[in-house]
Amino acid sequence: MITSGSLVNQSFRHIDSELTCDGVSIESIVERVGTPVYVYSGRAIRQAYREIDTAFGSYPHAIHYALKANSTLAIVRLLQSIGSRADANSAGEILVALRSGFAPSNIIFTGVGKTKDELELAVSKDLGAINAESVGELDRIAAIAVAHDTEARVALRVNPDIDAGSHPNISTGLRSNKFGVPIQDARTIYRERRRRRGLTFVGVHIHIGSQITSIEPLRSAAQALVSLALELKADGIQLEHLDLGGGLGIAYEGRPIISPVDYANAVLPELKKIGLRVILEPGRAIVGRAGALIARIVDIKRFPDGRQFAVLDAGMTELLRPAMYGSYHQIVPVAPRHSTESSWDIVGPICESSDVFAKDRLMPALEVGDLVAILDTGAYGSVMASNYNRHFFAPEVLVDYNKWTTIRRRQTLDDVLALET
Ligand code: LLP
Repeated sequence: MITSGSLVNQSFRHIDSELTCDGVSIESIVERVGTPVYVYSGRAIRQAYREIDTAFGSYPHAIHYALKANSTLAIVRLLQSIGSRADANSAGEILVALRSGFAPSNIIFTGVGKTKDELELAVSKDLGAINAESVGELDRIAAIAVAHDTEARVALRVNPDIDAGSHPNISTGLRSNKFGVPIQDARTIYRERRRRRGLTFVGVHIHIGSQITSIEPLRSAAQALVSLALELKADGIQLEHLDLGGGLGIAYEGRPIISPVDYANAVLPELKKIGLRVILEPGRAIVGRAGALIARIVDIKRFPDGRQFAVLDAGMTELLRPAMYGSYHQIVPVAPRHSTESSWDIVGPICESSDVFAKDRLMPALEVGDLVAILDTGAYGSVMASNYNRHFFAPEVLVDYNKWTTIRRRQTLDDVLALET
């Protein structure tokens, strides 16, 4: 259960009973930008990136940050500036990556259902790799490349039928999922297309899911990918890299889970059997713990059966994860009262019964006007926001080197209505 008034994670901690982000007062940020607001720690992002980088040591590796976790320009630029590469999932993310300064060769393009326009963009920019999802897509890429009189660098995404053990909505490596081609078909696909004009096979790609908290599925996925690559090698197909995808989980509940070092220790022995460069596509593990969503309590309801609700000015429009996956986020008061704890339902203001952040959560006394922080919302928070109920996108603030800056201002009615007649 939550202990408020103490260290809550590396970056967000209470100092003198007030929540801070790397020493900067959350209240002082809210005074200027209001609520709800996402606050990020630049230090935490750099640290998480370096942890993964260091874990793979001298083994040839490249970290392609998965923009889908958080693609706000300043965050993506920060990662670019420390040597990260990019994994983009749409034309929008490719364009944001380019705008953030990534060289096209450092961008890979993944994703189910790439449109013709998106493939045109990827081919014409000569991206580092396009991770193809199907035979049909490979053929479409080849046709586009031939039309551009070029060769597209491609990797096939294979589906190994491995259970990632995470929430079913974010597991992607089972045969029943829509992702990739069955791994047993891959060898034939590579063989048949190895000399196809327009295609250069540079790698193989796998991604079995997200928020993975046990090592076995990750090891098995690496094993499956390496044995496929060894077969391809035997067929004379020389690859440049193996792409292990993302998926490394974070400790939402505060209990220790697998670390980047555990991950590297599990997959490196497999990778060393072939020695190819490894590509990683972490998203959540880099930005997840670095962000908090700050909201204000706008109402308190007490029912005769003893239930008490704290209603926030942020809801599933600012953080969809609890409504969508029933996911757990720690919630702490920004200035906790010294009181006994009691059980609270922390909910949003949206007209949906699933707009609930926490049920039966032990919290100190709460009052209307209090600020709370919903932790570990750096990944899949702002990117999954919506304008439902005409909620305007909340601003985003980056705390870095003891200073804070608004990296995205609050959306206004004019911003939203600019698109409408
Ligand atoms: N690579 C591919 C091909 C992916 O599909 C994903 C995530 C990643 C990399 C990055 O995965 P990560 O390292 O962040 O686990 N909205 C969900 C998560 C969806 C993940 C989708 N794909 C959530 O809030 O939990």
